[in-house]
Amino acid sequence: MAYNLLKGKKGIIFGALNEQSIAWKVAQRAVQEGAEIVLSNAPIALRMGELNKLAEECNAPVIGADVTSNDDINNLFIKTQEHFGGGVDFILHSIGMSINVRKSVPYPENNYDFTHKGFDISALSLHRILQAAMKHDAINEWGSVLALSYIAAQRYFPGYNDMSDNKAVLESIARNFGYEYGIKKHVRVNTISQSPTRTTAGSGVKGFDGFIDFAEKMSPLGNADADQCADYCVSMFSDLTKMVTMQNLFHDGGFSFTGVTQAVIDQMGK
Ligand SMILES: NC(=O)c1ccc[n+]([C@@H]2O[C@H](COP(=O)([O-])OP(=O)(O)OC[C@H]3O[C@@H](n4cnc5c(N)ncnc54)[C@H](O)[C@@H]3O)[C@@H](O)[C@H]2O)c1
Repeated sequence: MAYNLLKGKKGIIFGALNEQSIAWKVAQRAVQEGAEIVLSNAPIALRMGELNKLAEECNAPVIGADVTSNDDINNLFIKTQEHFGGGVDFILHSIGMSINVRKSVPYPENNYDFTHKGFDISALSLHRILQAAMKHDAINEWGSVLALSYIAAQRYFPGYNDMSDNKAVLESIARNFGYEYGIKKHVRVNTISQSPTRTTAGSGVKGFDGFIDFAEKMSPLGNADADQCADYCVSMFSDLTKMVTMQNLFHDGGFSFTGVTQAVIDQMGK
């Protein structure tokens, strides 16, 4: 069901890799709600070719950008402003990658070259994007920027490794830049802390299936899926949430505030 919540709005969606990607669902939902979008991902992801399907479906141009490159990001904003003939109203940062996770390097033994790379891609990229957006004056008044996070920013989760640190910094950047961009142009910046979701990035975490089952049992509403996350993102891009900024918003069926559930207790007693 569509409500025209984003009618007339324009946005950039980073991070749609395949149909499982959270960003893929957000792109589809945003367009259903009346938005026009530009899709962006790393050149290597574009070469996989799947994004073209989404681009066609959403009638959206694809502009490649490695988010660790200032030049790529500047180019993306210049081309996007040319395409729309002006600024954008929303941006989704749906980007994450840890080489330590991928190569199963235990947290105490992290390889710092891997750590730097993962930090640059997963956390600093939000700062880079916002800095470039400000420089190009590329976000309209009352625009909305969202990045996706995970509760391992606040609590220990096995296997999440240095992505926990990356998410903690990501949320901090959203808070700090939220202040700066709010003062400057009423642009709001928030993170959504999403339930574990079966995607390429998610499945990279060791023992992910057990993780998902545990979270499901630990959430009074169950896990939030990628489509539900897309609904939440759309509401955060809309004018109905104009005064929300600098927040980390849990979208997790209640997981974050549940001590233990009866389902988990019953499981333990077995
Ligand atoms: N899947 C989960 O369980 C879960 C839970 C909470 C939060 N998140 C977060 O949601 C976001 C999206 O992840 P997803 O689960 O949809 O997985 P995904 O693998 O579909 O998306 C990750 C994206 O990051 C992109 N990326 C990696 N390196 C890049 C670079 N250098 N430049 C530009 N883009 C780059 C990838 O190409 C990919 O499109 C991530 O921030 C992830 O941490 C995921």
